[in-house]
Amino acid sequence: MEKKYMSDIHLEDYAAEYEEKKALCLDLVFPGGRERVSLAGPWHYAVDQYDTCLRQKWFLEKYRDERGDTLPVDYSFDEWETMELPACWNTAGREFLFYEGPMVFTRRFHFDRPGSGRVILRIGAASMLCRAFLNGRYLGMHRGGSTPFCFDVTELLREENRILLSVDSTRRGEQVPCENTDWFNYGGVFREIDLIAVPETFIRSFRLNLVPDGGFDRVRAAVTVSGRAEAECVLDIPELGIRERIPVREGRGEAVIAARPRLWSPEDPYLYDVTLSLGEDRVSDRVGFREIRVSGREIRLNGKPLFLRGVSAHEDSVERGRALTDGERAEILRQAKELGCNFMRLAHYPHHENMSRLADELGILLWEEIPVYWAIRFDHEDTLADAENQLAELIERDFNRASVIIWSVGNENADTDSRLRFMSRLAKLARETDPSRLVSAACLVDARENRIADRLAEALDLIGINEYCGWYTPDFEKLPELMRNSDPDKPVIITEFGADALRGNRGDAGTKGTEEYQALVYEKQMETLLKIPYIRGTSPWLLYDFRSPRRTSSVQKYYNRKGLMDETRTYRKPAFFVLRRYYTRERN
Ligand code: GCU
Repeated sequence: MEKKYMSDIHLEDYAAEYEEKKALCLDLVFPGGRERVSLAGPWHYAVDQYDTCLRQKWFLEKYRDERGDTLPVDYSFDEWETMELPACWNTAGREFLFYEGPMVFTRRFHFDRPGSGRVILRIGAASMLCRAFLNGRYLGMHRGGSTPFCFDVTELLREENRILLSVDSTRRGEQVPCENTDWFNYGGVFREIDLIAVPETFIRSFRLNLVPDGGFDRVRAAVTVSGRAEAECVLDIPELGIRERIPVREGRGEAVIAARPRLWSPEDPYLYDVTLSLGEDRVSDRVGFREIRVSGREIRLNGKPLFLRGVSAHEDSVERGRALTDGERAEILRQAKELGCNFMRLAHYPHHENMSRLADELGILLWEEIPVYWAIRFDHEDTLADAENQLAELIERDFNRASVIIWSVGNENADTDSRLRFMSRLAKLARETDPSRLVSAACLVDARENRIADRLAEALDLIGINEYCGWYTPDFEKLPELMRNSDPDKPVIITEFGADALRGNRGDAGTKGTEEYQALVYEKQMETLLKIPYIRGTSPWLLYDFRSPRRTSSVQKYYNRKGLMDETRTYRKPAFFVLRRYYTRERN
């Protein structure tokens, strides 16, 4: 092979040789209750701005040529600095705060191979693109920075191993999200990196829910298995006296079982311990049974009318970016409960899976969302594949979570034909994949006519509306007018309203940017919204100030200041107490 000079080493060569897959829906493996070998800890890393790792194939670790002569290489994995993963590199050091691009992470690890069965590598999230290599072999690429992905590494594992992840946080127009958002573009491996040993034939997915037919008297279990197609699973829910054999044919099985479980609700977040076994494989979960439906303009939880007393939140920590600790996640949910919430909108991308696990335990209903945000490339097949993949992975990941009641397919997208096609497809995918939940999106108001008129509403079970009367729409009278002009035939949630206020910026309530003005906006919004029969929930924007490179005024300093609390989560602005008064004053 003719000698390649540096300038000859093109990324396309790498891609062609490694058959890049764009939006990869890797078969997830149900992790519940399984033994995991964690690869968290110190990983060597290097900023790889020009993708030299891929161009020169560092992952092959070729140190000598065919004649045995030493080759000059531009990396020294084990001498690189280390970073504790999971992490966002942006908060790992000031030199990385605004770095966007490829970074290479690598470590060695010893692995005691089990005598038989498979070994799965599961990465909880890496943003935005993650290309994975093990012992010099390419495993695959995952797009999307917020959902888990898996690789079967059985054949490649040895006693002593090297894993290498090339993680690229570059924003691109055809990606989901695209290059323009109102949040900070953190890069890194945000969540767990685990090795999971499973038998040759193992449980790949396990879904369990109350049959949403208004009877509250049947549960449905659906399983898929890998390896041998013919098998039998056993579902155990001891507290319900259920031990059900589920035949598996061609890798799939399901059962509908008579049961009257204690229903899960925010007031009574009751969870059942369940196990599912298949031969020597065994998984477990803690599952709440509840029914969420829409009836006319009402949302009904377990058959009863529900008003969603909510608040929105980003996944954003001053110290750790998106790589929050479980302690931080529990604090967020506790502070939402302190606010009087029974609901949270986890914006604008899938948060860590432990948020919905904790919400199951604490009794907080959740809106979960994929980052189809603003002006993404609605006319681009690759972009649709990426969005569908992230939605499929999110649903697969959180299907058993009672707290999750709404899948949102996007946020604030202009009502164009291509957007309507694209997001109607996503809504259909969500409904087909999971008929037990509601599908929504945060839509814009028709500003010209000042009314709710988004064509996407037709494809949704309930309509999210972002409106900023009193802020971006200065004339507050536009809100009552909007409410009068609209006549939706399904429930509406006001998914965003709010105003900026810098912590401690006190003044009179007529001055924008002060805490008093923000409190007045909340007062006037809630006074108006709570009188509207078709408004069945609010999730104002938002619980905490958060990083955003777009916000550079002297008040903002690279933070969006619409939080009810500041970014340290220690300071409650006056608007926090205004909203709490409404949420605790009357049970809606
Ligand atoms: C929009 C958008 C948010 C953004 C907010 C704001 O509604 O959905 O992501 O942060 O407005 O401007 O503060």
